[in-house]
Amino acid sequence: MYRKLIYLHFKMRVLYPSYSVYFQLHMPNVRQSSTSTAAIYTEKRVPANFSEIPIDRIRNFSIIAHVDHGKSTLADRILELTGAIPRNSGAQFLDSLQVERERGITVKAQTASIIHTYKNQQYLLNLIDTPGHVDFSNEVSRSLAACDGVVMLVDACHGVQAQTVANYQLAKMRNLAIIPVLNKIDIKHANPDRVRKDLHSLFGIDPNTVLKVSAKMGVNITTVLDSVIEKIPPPLVDRSSPFRALIFDSWFDKYRGALNLIYILNGTLKVGQEIQSMATKKSYSVKGITILCPNESQVESISAGQVGLLACNMRNSKESIIGDTIHRKNENVIPAVSFKRQQPMVYAGVYPADQSKHLALRSAIEKLVLNDSAVTVKVDSSPALGQGWRLGFLGLLHMEVFCQRLEQEYGADPVITAPSVTYRIVFKNPKIIKQMGKDTLELSNAALFPEPFNVKEYYEPLVKVGTIITPTEYMGQIISLCVDRRGIQESSINIDDERILMKYILPLSEIILDFNDHLKSISSGYASFNYEDYGYHLTNIVRLDIHLNGRPVEELCRIVHVSKASTIAREMVTKLQELIPRQMVQIAIQACVGGKVLARETIKAYRKDVTAKLYGGDVTRRMKLLKQQAEGKKKMRMFANIRVPHETFINVLKR
Ligand code: GTP
Repeated sequence: MYRKLIYLHFKMRVLYPSYSVYFQLHMPNVRQSSTSTAAIYTEKRVPANFSEIPIDRIRNFSIIAHVDHGKSTLADRILELTGAIPRNSGAQFLDSLQVERERGITVKAQTASIIHTYKNQQYLLNLIDTPGHVDFSNEVSRSLAACDGVVMLVDACHGVQAQTVANYQLAKMRNLAIIPVLNKIDIKHANPDRVRKDLHSLFGIDPNTVLKVSAKMGVNITTVLDSVIEKIPPPLVDRSSPFRALIFDSWFDKYRGALNLIYILNGTLKVGQEIQSMATKKSYSVKGITILCPNESQVESISAGQVGLLACNMRNSKESIIGDTIHRKNENVIPAVSFKRQQPMVYAGVYPADQSKHLALRSAIEKLVLNDSAVTVKVDSSPALGQGWRLGFLGLLHMEVFCQRLEQEYGADPVITAPSVTYRIVFKNPKIIKQMGKDTLELSNAALFPEPFNVKEYYEPLVKVGTIITPTEYMGQIISLCVDRRGIQESSINIDDERILMKYILPLSEIILDFNDHLKSISSGYASFNYEDYGYHLTNIVRLDIHLNGRPVEELCRIVHVSKASTIAREMVTKLQELIPRQMVQIAIQACVGGKVLARETIKAYRKDVTAKLYGGDVTRRMKLLKQQAEGKKKMRMFANIRVPHETFINVLKR
């Protein structure tokens, strides 16, 4: 009987997505499989006349801004005001991932279709809340492909920041309507007049057109929505031509496979129709269409100008391709104008902790890549770590978030190697050149660094424009930081009496790990930073090995600039001495280049068992301590007899 009930429950979930919603509402303790839709479902449904809303009453827009300028808070207020979610649904409603809640940042753009009444007419607004951190800028560019305008939010205290400039340029490049909005006007030391002046001097925005809101207090939110309707044009689409849609997001659902978020450019799509992917030429039958309001709500059809979620039995990221155009089977249509995919900046090896978990980790990576199309995946192997993958990320935060999601959402426990940029190595040894069939190798895995006597030249990637916006009082310290990181100043422009915009050329390897943290700490959080690719330039690099009790640890070896080898060697051994806990044996930590020891530290052995004296009445405490030790061990990697905590591999790289 019980088995039958379980079978029926799963069948209902597969056949009827709305059953999942009902299930979640009534059994909140049971986890949903979909990770990308808002975590808490509400009773709100799409209006009955949804598909009849004419194109001229549709507006598609994103909220863009620098980190923490209040995008998600504004999205909350908009959702509340339009009745999409009840008031007090919890802060940052659309930030539904565990990692977003824990870190307090948006890492994933989220869509919501809402209805706003303006001059007694109902308008359909498709809103996308985007992340603000530079590492997730891919999310912004793909979101803008489904928009006709943006709400550009600027913090009235901090003013224009690096990511404001970058996002403004992205929106301009796509010819989108821009609604400038100053947020946080409720804060005492907010300076809206100064920020409006900056917007004028940097972007030529008329100060009188800048709206002033407080997302937190809910002040002037209706004005923002009214401006969206007045200033953003309706989508330039046609419902009478053959169906064509752009896939601009996707994620994995346990029961429905890959779900695609699509923006309909032409025609109408109905459940049951046959569609085809332009990229893979494969065809599928439409199993279900839902609208995110922000909860999933089933509809029978969806028309040009609208955004919806399509389930059609696609299985993985090889079938569900972000930027792909879908159309009716065997019909010829022109591809949708897509967006520029960002090139990864940082690479790291990801390996299963033991090879028996290889398949599970592969499946977890495949599913997560569906939800994070900026990550590149290449099969890789290492003598010490076995079969694994080399993943490309847009930055260190992107990498940390991806790995955290692998653990939290898929229960994976992978080994991650030190992140590195890709170097270009030109060989001089004719034997190697003949073997490879070329003289140049692109290398990001330090473990594969070649012997120096075989190499003619090394090249490293630089970043073209480091746009650093800072109050003038921090300028001196910031210049020192850039010089320390081998930076060359290009220009510096005064935005106003108090703020300066500097441009630098910096090696990518010097900024990916902790440059942003240092910049924030020396400028009390005021300076901000943004960068883009500047190609490869000649350099001089070596491989720095770390040995624990004489044994090389592949996860910790790094490629470093010659001028920094001794300093980094010293910093790494000191840091490892702090990070590795004392153990039963003495641990010698050495940093070496080509067999020569550059730095060394020792961690002394424990003398006593800390639990040894706990007996009699202390038995529960002893059990607790032993349990804690056992749990601690789980999150450690073993090298010979030495236990190294998981987070050491990343923390040791931060200077
Ligand atoms: P990311 O997506 O991570 O870039 O952040 P965000 O731009 O979505 O900012 P978020 O909405 O998470 O807000 C950041 C912080 O600013 C939160 O602590 C909010 O409570 C606060 N905040 C947002 N809007 C206002 C406002 O109008 N007034 C005040 N005082 N605080 C605000």
